[in-house]
Amino acid sequence: MAPGQKLLFTFFLCSSSFLLTGKGVEVVEGSSRHHHQHHHHVKHNGVDTKKLFVFGDSYADTGNNRISNGDSWKLPYGITFPGKPSGRFSDGRVFTDFLARYLGLKSPVAYKFRRFGGKHLKYGMNFAFGGTGVFDTTAPYPNMTTQIDFFERLLNESVFTPFDLETSIAHVSLVGNDYSAYLSRGGSVQGLQTFIPQVVNELVVDIKRIYKLGVKKISVTALQPLGCLPRSTIQNSFQRCNDTFNQAVIFHNTLLQQAVTNLNNNHTHGSPIVIIDLYNAFLSVIQQNATNQQGSSKFANPMRPCCRGISPAYYCGNVDQNGNNMYTVCQHPNNYFFWDDSHPTQAGWEALTTALQPNLDSLQR
Ligand SMILES: *[C@@H]1O[C@H](CO)[C@@H](O)[C@H](O)[C@H]1NC(C)=O
Ligand SMILES: *[C@@H]1O[C@H](CO)[C@@H](O)[C@H](O)[C@H]1NC(C)=O
Ligand SMILES: *[C@@H]1O[C@H](CO)[C@@H](O)[C@H](O)[C@H]1NC(C)=O
Ligand SMILES: *[C@@H]1O[C@H](CO)[C@@H](O)[C@H](O)[C@H]1NC(C)=O
Ligand SMILES: *[C@@H]1O[C@H](CO)[C@@H](O)[C@H](O)[C@H]1NC(C)=O
Repeated sequence: MAPGQKLLFTFFLCSSSFLLTGKGVEVVEGSSRHHHQHHHHVKHNGVDTKKLFVFGDSYADTGNNRISNGDSWKLPYGITFPGKPSGRFSDGRVFTDFLARYLGLKSPVAYKFRRFGGKHLKYGMNFAFGGTGVFDTTAPYPNMTTQIDFFERLLNESVFTPFDLETSIAHVSLVGNDYSAYLSRGGSVQGLQTFIPQVVNELVVDIKRIYKLGVKKISVTALQPLGCLPRSTIQNSFQRCNDTFNQAVIFHNTLLQQAVTNLNNNHTHGSPIVIIDLYNAFLSVIQQNATNQQGSSKFANPMRPCCRGISPAYYCGNVDQNGNNMYTVCQHPNNYFFWDDSHPTQAGWEALTTALQPNLDSLQR
């Protein structure tokens, strides 16, 4: 594989998105708080109005990317939940599902499966589409602007009302596809220096637009450590994170933090924008090892993915012309943090959600 190609594969995320203390006691405390606090449905005349609207990529997608041969619609994706492929880039639930549960909602229907006028709309809608970014990545995937257009159209058609939005939350997942696409088109690692600010600026444009459309609370992901994903660490047998990529991630996250602070400072009533700090959440799980309630290690080797191609030419879910599996999958996905070369397992997301508790709590305020 040429170096450029290698980078492309190293960087390409078909995606969708958490923080962990790594200390058993705090994990337990976090989960018990979870049960007590997070089911405040907002009711007006007995009608639930709180909804979740989701934009972004594979860390959040629950079924929208069904184009051509999207891996998430093939085995072994979905084997843990719902038991068959469902368009989630994981063995089971993804961040959207855990966020919805935290908010006391069911996971919102994927835009692709919307049915107007029905109870399906009760929990909001998920516009996230695996593989996308704020800019175009893979044609004809809908970039974030287009996803927000879909949302705006539904508002124009009164499928959702301004009243719905008053008490709703939007989640924006952006986990690196703009950078994969940039590198695959021949961009250099040095060039990221000028590209990263463009991505963050466009992300801020998108956040402001969602806010102007009437959603009063918005969460946005900070980038996870891209250099720690299996697609990067496969070079050293999943032992060490690639610092070059993580430095780029830190730059992106610093700019995002500044922009969000700026937006929130200009707001007189609280802080409408909340950062979901995937960077520290991932590192915390990877470095300190998540522990279960018995205090034993949950992810014995947190850098190694459960499902991977039998050689660098193949990915999790690939089959050859004769239908033979060109991948191996672990026996117990629950013991793995990473599912494939870019995405966490359901157990991984669960650990991340626990670690992200402080961020999620500020989303409730
Ligand atoms: C998003 O996609 C639309 C439709 O293809 C395109 O017109 C627009 O320029 C894209 N926006 C960005 C920011 O790339
Ligand atoms: C929604 O309506 C506004 C006002 O009429 C219009 O400017 C906008 O283009 C519409 N958006 C979509 C996506 O149809
Ligand atoms: C990190 O990735 C870059 C780009 O693929 C590569 O040139 C570099 O050697 C990697 N660094 C380490 C420490 O693996
Ligand atoms: C916040 O307000 C300051 C001062 O009015 C302004 O310069 C800045 O552009 C605003 N920031 C945003 C993100 O709107
Ligand atoms: C995780 O914990 C296991 C068992 O305690 C240990 O062998 C392993 O080195 C740890 N991994 C990391 C990345 O700290």
